[in-house]
Amino acid sequence: MTTTTAARTAQPATKPVVSFENVTKSYGTVRAVDGLSLTLHPGETVALLGPNGAGKSTTLDLLLGLRPADSGSVRLFDGTPREAVAAGRVGAMLQSGGLMEEVTVREIVALGCALHPRPHPVDQVLSRAGIDKIADRKVDKLSGGQEQRVRFALATVGDSDLIVLDEPTTGMDVTSRQAFWATMREQADRGRTVLFATHYLEEADAIADRVIVLSKGRVLADGTAAEIKAKAGARRISFDLTGPVDTAPLRALPFLTAFERHGDTVRIQSRDADATVHALYALGLYPRNLEVAGLGLEQAFIALTEAEEATRC
Ligand SMILES: Nc1ncnc2c1ncn2[C@@H]1O[C@H](COP(=O)(O)OP(=O)(O)O)[C@@H](O)[C@H]1O
Ligand SMILES: [Mg+2]
Repeated sequence: MTTTTAARTAQPATKPVVSFENVTKSYGTVRAVDGLSLTLHPGETVALLGPNGAGKSTTLDLLLGLRPADSGSVRLFDGTPREAVAAGRVGAMLQSGGLMEEVTVREIVALGCALHPRPHPVDQVLSRAGIDKIADRKVDKLSGGQEQRVRFALATVGDSDLIVLDEPTTGMDVTSRQAFWATMREQADRGRTVLFATHYLEEADAIADRVIVLSKGRVLADGTAAEIKAKAGARRISFDLTGPVDTAPLRALPFLTAFERHGDTVRIQSRDADATVHALYALGLYPRNLEVAGLGLEQAFIALTEAEEATRC
């Protein structure tokens, strides 16, 4: 965790890829993006994680210059989004938007390549996206997952510095999702900055080196998956104590955020499991079956968004 944080905080020496400053966007009375500020650095793989309606797609639309912000500033590579897109510095895969019909996979990818200022060879794009075997198939004959791969291919037709993907694995089964992420990781390993929106927590956890949690258009948390779990508080500790036990000193253990006792089993949550367990042994007790487990990102995410709801409703 420390290493990753250090690596990230060492980044500002390089120019930011994306910079949002206090950006706001409303649709009528709905504030989809609410004072958003964020900076992405070269080479980062960032997950924009949030429930439906959190403002992920709107954020990506603003980033790509597809919609104007109501206020605030959106910069890409120190220019406007439109300049960056026109220069071919950004490859994008959006959530909506149909593919052309009546053309083959190869034809649509070839067109994408032709339109990019710094295109890759068509065959390379097809094979990297894992669609070389279906290159001669008509686009309207594809499964949902295959269509997503074609969209991904279109996001990677050229030598772009930033790849933006909006919920790219929607409609894929678990196997093709995993294969897809391997493909995407290759892009990240080749030094691309990758920003993807998702509501699959395990994806953010497994793929991203930085997770930005959005809720109601605001950033709730921004850090590594491990940091976000830590921010949501708590690791779970459970153990058994037999015989009559005075629970008062247990409840007074340091860093406790929750305490439960069912029969012989005690379940607690702590913000610093090491310190809590140390203090537990110092009570002179003999806990058996001691287990310490982290909250999953999913639980952390729920805890964070619920805490936010509670403060805003
Ligand atoms: N074109 C639109 N017109 C009106 N409201 C919209 C439009 N697009 C999005 N919204 C609203 O803005 C909020 C954020 O939506 P969106 O950015 O699509 O979130 P997400 O991608 O996280 O699901 C939601 O409340 C949504 O209903
Ligand atoms: Mg969306």
